[in-house]
Amino acid sequence: MNLFATKSVDQLMAEGGDGSHGSGNSDLKRTLGAMQLVALGIGAVVGAGIFVLAGTAAANHAGPAVVYSFILAAIGCALAGLCYSEFSTMIPIAGSAYAYSYATLGELVAWIIGWALVLEYAVGAATVSVGWSGTMVSILKSLGITLPQQFLASPWDADPGLVNLPAVFIIVVITAILIRGVQESARFNSIVVAVKLTVVIAFIVLGYSYINTGNYTPFLPENTTGEFGKFGWTGVMSAAGTIFFAYIGFDAVSTAAQEAKNPKRDMPIGIIGSLAVCTMLYIMYALVLTGIVNYKELNVAAPYALAVDRMTGLPWLGFWMKLGSLLGLTTVMLAMLFGQSRVFYSMSKDGLLPKTFSEIHPTLRTPYKSNLILLVFVGLLAGFTPISLLGNLTSIGTLCAFIVVCIGIIVLRRTRPELPRPFRTPMVPLIPGLGVLANFALMYSLDSLTWTAFLAWMAFGLVIYFSYSASRSHLQNSVARSSGR
Ligand code: ALA
Repeated sequence: MNLFATKSVDQLMAEGGDGSHGSGNSDLKRTLGAMQLVALGIGAVVGAGIFVLAGTAAANHAGPAVVYSFILAAIGCALAGLCYSEFSTMIPIAGSAYAYSYATLGELVAWIIGWALVLEYAVGAATVSVGWSGTMVSILKSLGITLPQQFLASPWDADPGLVNLPAVFIIVVITAILIRGVQESARFNSIVVAVKLTVVIAFIVLGYSYINTGNYTPFLPENTTGEFGKFGWTGVMSAAGTIFFAYIGFDAVSTAAQEAKNPKRDMPIGIIGSLAVCTMLYIMYALVLTGIVNYKELNVAAPYALAVDRMTGLPWLGFWMKLGSLLGLTTVMLAMLFGQSRVFYSMSKDGLLPKTFSEIHPTLRTPYKSNLILLVFVGLLAGFTPISLLGNLTSIGTLCAFIVVCIGIIVLRRTRPELPRPFRTPMVPLIPGLGVLANFALMYSLDSLTWTAFLAWMAFGLVIYFSYSASRSHLQNSVARSSGR
């Protein structure tokens, strides 16, 4: 067994059917244009991170200086985003970081990344579904409807219940939309993204005149306890690790490369474009949020709602903000579950996961069985796990994938310099090298419980790889055949 066997880029392209290499009839449909990809990116990104975590990170770690945390996290994402753009135009196929590492760092690393991406996409979708549930419950409450607590929380929440049913419900709905087909999903996504952006922009524009500049003093509260992450610059760093979650999702655009009409031009626009729009919005949003409400008061379930309530004279805004954020969270889950099924599709095509994960529906042309299996897995997580446990795990898995993508760019420039690169990451190896450092710093700032859970998940993945996947890998089997074994 050669754990470092790499799949050739040409082979990946031929399998992907990028239009110039022919396309088999099991290929996914190419229906997405540049604007739909930017919308997919924004739809995947703006969600629980900005609506919930921005406030709690300011209250617990950084104060108004959470704005700096947003900038730090954006730098890590932008560096990785440039690397994602090069990869996704060079290898425009489903599978994202998984496929890229298969071509550069070998099968074992590819497996590790595929496994880490489950944390980003599947666990991420579960995280957001729990946030969706909280928002839904709060909207119902404002309409005078109160549901029994035992159906609104997991047994391990601070305010425990039996199962979080609204979270399970929304996962079922999103799965049904995805099974119907990507064209319909993208149209739905574009409408919801417009609503979500309107709500965020309205918050910034209307909230501006309610800012009390006194709330910006101190802008960077001092660390008085000496504890890492409790205000001061270590607090800014720690908040950056937490609100990194708010940027997760822009890379989901790259998982749609196989469904993009013109991946070479549209993938960089989709990735960098959605990241740039979100960064601008987040910085302004955080300034308005911490300007309206003192950071010490922001440690609540719906910080933006608190801020909106302070905008006296706009009583209708709170309801629409909640509704907008509810819709916003919906598209985040849509993109995450979409990305997850595409990564499993690629892993299954390579023989590392059972065939079921790459079976395409005969008329809908979607990987419906994979969607249904994910429904069970994500639905269980959503129903029975508190949001706090899920969020950081999503971040650490994503950061791990970002680091490998950055390394992969450096490796492939050396091993396959001649490959056509419609988009080239500038200043290689400096930019990818800084990407590794920046994303590792964010990873480092996460707590030890997150690290322990992450390492346990990865160890479990290795057991599956060595007991199932390695012996069924198409690449391993072809290597063995060609060496006469
Ligand atoms: N970035 C996504 C969110 O904030 C995951 O919900």
